[in-house]
Amino acid sequence: MKRAQQHAIWGRRGTFILAATGSAVGLGNIWKFPYITGENGGGAFVLMYLLCICLIGLPVMVAEVMLGRRGRANPIMAMEEVARESGNSRGWTLIGWSSVAAGFIILSYYSVIAGWTLEYVTTAAQGGFAGFDGDAATGTFAALQGDVSKLVRWQTAFLCMTALIIMFGVTRGLETAVRILMPLLFVLLIVLLGYAAYAGDFVAGFKFLFNFRFSDLSFEGLSLALGHAFFTLSLGMGAIMAYGSYMPHKTSIMKTVLTVGCLDTLVALTAGLVIFPIVFASPGVEPGAGPSLMFISLPIVFGSMPLGTVFGTVFFLLITVAAWSSTISLLEPAVAYLSERFRFHRVSASLLIVSCAWLLGLTTVFSLNRWQDMDLLAGMTPFDFSAFITEQVLLPVGALAMAVYVGWFMGKRPLRREMKLDSGLWFGRWFKVLRYVSPVLILAVFLLGIFDKFAG
Ligand code: PHE
Repeated sequence: MKRAQQHAIWGRRGTFILAATGSAVGLGNIWKFPYITGENGGGAFVLMYLLCICLIGLPVMVAEVMLGRRGRANPIMAMEEVARESGNSRGWTLIGWSSVAAGFIILSYYSVIAGWTLEYVTTAAQGGFAGFDGDAATGTFAALQGDVSKLVRWQTAFLCMTALIIMFGVTRGLETAVRILMPLLFVLLIVLLGYAAYAGDFVAGFKFLFNFRFSDLSFEGLSLALGHAFFTLSLGMGAIMAYGSYMPHKTSIMKTVLTVGCLDTLVALTAGLVIFPIVFASPGVEPGAGPSLMFISLPIVFGSMPLGTVFGTVFFLLITVAAWSSTISLLEPAVAYLSERFRFHRVSASLLIVSCAWLLGLTTVFSLNRWQDMDLLAGMTPFDFSAFITEQVLLPVGALAMAVYVGWFMGKRPLRREMKLDSGLWFGRWFKVLRYVSPVLILAVFLLGIFDKFAG
């Protein structure tokens, strides 16, 4: 293919795994997974989540990587190329558009929340958690939510950090960044695990995470588990397709995806094994606290634990690194599109997209304070709406479209050629699941989620 020469390829072995794991591991693993597990009863939720990862997440991820590599371009042009090759309608390019758009919207609010972690790194490092009680921790968090200039400052900082990496290009920027950030992330996580085992109530945390109680299984939990499986694997948002497009031909897609899926799950479970033992170390703190688990409960506990200042700082640094490697994957698809289609320089493309994401992100900032009571649709603030439209609409619809396209419409020959390194047996199994199982499950959970939102 001609385009292969223009389009970058990862320079070293294993970069795709690092980059895709960097994209996958983020706030979703360290902030969201523990708190939704806490709210949904622990072990039973973990089991449903693992099932969703295996039956729906991984098969769709294989499809997404394969589409990117076959098209060898940013998600929009990759879909054009694949549809052209297989003689399909150009309408399938919409998959590319929807994923780039979803990635962009997520970038706008994700960077605001990621900004909070920067604020918490600085607070923790200055010993700001020392002697925190419930009121102090709640007050600090509420004060941050109400402080527009601080929120905007951290949001801006985070977006600049993201643009800085993407500007330098695929091999010099992205590849170098993930080669440094990912090992750092794993080291921080292991250090914290050791600390949780030493200073926290490890047995209670472990039991909470893995004790399965039948009565905790619920339909709502299943729907949450599925949505989260997509979000945590970064599916349907262009990131994985863009990274796949830089993957060399001699790599097996299935093996690589399996590795990324395992690493992502491992990090989520380890984050749970860090957070819950720390939570249980303090008798008054609840595991089911919801979104504030990380920003209110943990600071309280760190404030009273031995070496809480050091490890509190390390903990929030870990989340910053995880979120950073995710935002760079959210920026890459749009930047790649502008530079491949319109010959934008990567520096100007990065600055342009980041500025637009910054502007849109302001609606998230204001949703936390001035627009808190705004009702854009069904009681949602602009921030809720951005999260809803991406996580509950664009993401499942994009993933569904990918599964249907690859399962039913894409030519079998280009498909098999792209996956020639994977055995016929596994290819066959994957193809069947992608064709018959994944679409039905995605559709069911998507419709129930929408129904729940507007009827409930
Ligand atoms: N997977 C990331 C997380 O778990 C979020 C993300 C979604 C990143 C989509 C990139 C693309 O936090």
